[in-house]
Amino acid sequence: MLQGKRIVLGVCGGIAVYKVADLTSKLQQAGALVDVILTAHAAEFVRPLTFSTVSHRPVYTDLWEPTGQAAARHIELGAAADLLVVAPATANTIARLAHGLADDMLTAVALSTMAPLLLAPAMEHHMYQHPATQANLRLLAERGATIIPPETGHLASGEIGAGRLPETPVLLTHIRRLLGRDGDLAGRRVVVTAGGTQEPIDPVRYIGNRSSGLMGFALAEEARDRGADVTLIVGATNTPPPDGMRVLHTPTALAMRDAVREAVAQADALVMAAAVADYRVSEPATQKIKKGSAAENADGSLTLHLVRNPDILAELAEERALDGLVRVGFAAETTDLERNATKKLKSKRLNLLVANDVSKAGSGFGTITNEVTLYHADGRIEPLALLPKTEVAAAIWDRIVPLLKHKT
Ligand code: CTP
Repeated sequence: MLQGKRIVLGVCGGIAVYKVADLTSKLQQAGALVDVILTAHAAEFVRPLTFSTVSHRPVYTDLWEPTGQAAARHIELGAAADLLVVAPATANTIARLAHGLADDMLTAVALSTMAPLLLAPAMEHHMYQHPATQANLRLLAERGATIIPPETGHLASGEIGAGRLPETPVLLTHIRRLLGRDGDLAGRRVVVTAGGTQEPIDPVRYIGNRSSGLMGFALAEEARDRGADVTLIVGATNTPPPDGMRVLHTPTALAMRDAVREAVAQADALVMAAAVADYRVSEPATQKIKKGSAAENADGSLTLHLVRNPDILAELAEERALDGLVRVGFAAETTDLERNATKKLKSKRLNLLVANDVSKAGSGFGTITNEVTLYHADGRIEPLALLPKTEVAAAIWDRIVPLLKHKT
């Protein structure tokens, strides 16, 4: 998503500049070409060398420097930009942007570019709340700028209030979303499930599985970054879900079924990456099961009676009203991969089945990589190399997009 994207990053003079050096580095690592422009006040806080070291590109400060190169470059930078980010955006620069001034390199580029503008205001909280700053922000928002609200917390002044620059992951999510708004999933609604389910035995115990949720999260993030409106339905996982999407927590298979059924009614695609428990305890105990209690058998053993959970995908296969929904399933197998995968593809009426042999190293639960084979509804079998889950997610959406195009 960020690979090869031209981002002009305007940095203003606020104490949060140090956070933006980290943002620059993360953008560069993700393949973006980041042209940093420091305002004169930002250059008082941090030297241009800090930014050129992490961006691997020249850094611009003075529009009027004597060689005239910067003055000539501002049109070129504005024309090439996919996105203009201003972070931290100070009250002064927000005012200059709102009123169309062009008295330095950053404001000159802002006037000359057609790229979307993303602002991350960060300042002392009274300055942020001042009617002048708020009116300037409203004006910029009316003209199409996206504004990342500052976070509330300790400010450099020692006070507590709204004015902190959000951390890098939050800024990155906004950048990815804005760049992806015209992506190949723009205007599409997709539902992704992730993680395992936990089926209660009693109030403190459950039957679970080893799913980490990472594959589902990677799929949801990739869809978001391609412009989709994402509903992420999460079972049990210890990893926090990604930002920038609707997240529903459904610990049990039954709860997940209800959430999926409701979400798919409006959706274009469903990707079921969750490891849904096939069985649940028929009647979970209402109190903790104690050793030696009546729940135990006479020989001290304990019997749990398990009943089948509904198969969410198989149930949807029966619904003719959902015929237009593109469905993708996963199959985690330890034996007979091809036979099981082909059977599931047909019985669950899937467009695509992503199968992996979870007994293989680097594949399946808890790993950051995955080696999968794609089984297509038309019979094609497509093995993918061992890849990071983020790249597997991109490959899966690449296969889903053409299927969506066939929809009326
Ligand atoms: N799945 C589902 N509802 C269930 C179980 C599984 O929707 N109750 C979905 C999974 O999310 C996955 C696909 O079905 O996308 C296959 O899951 P898997 O557990 O591998 O297969 P099962 O259908 O449970 O088959 P088996 O028990 O034979 O392995």
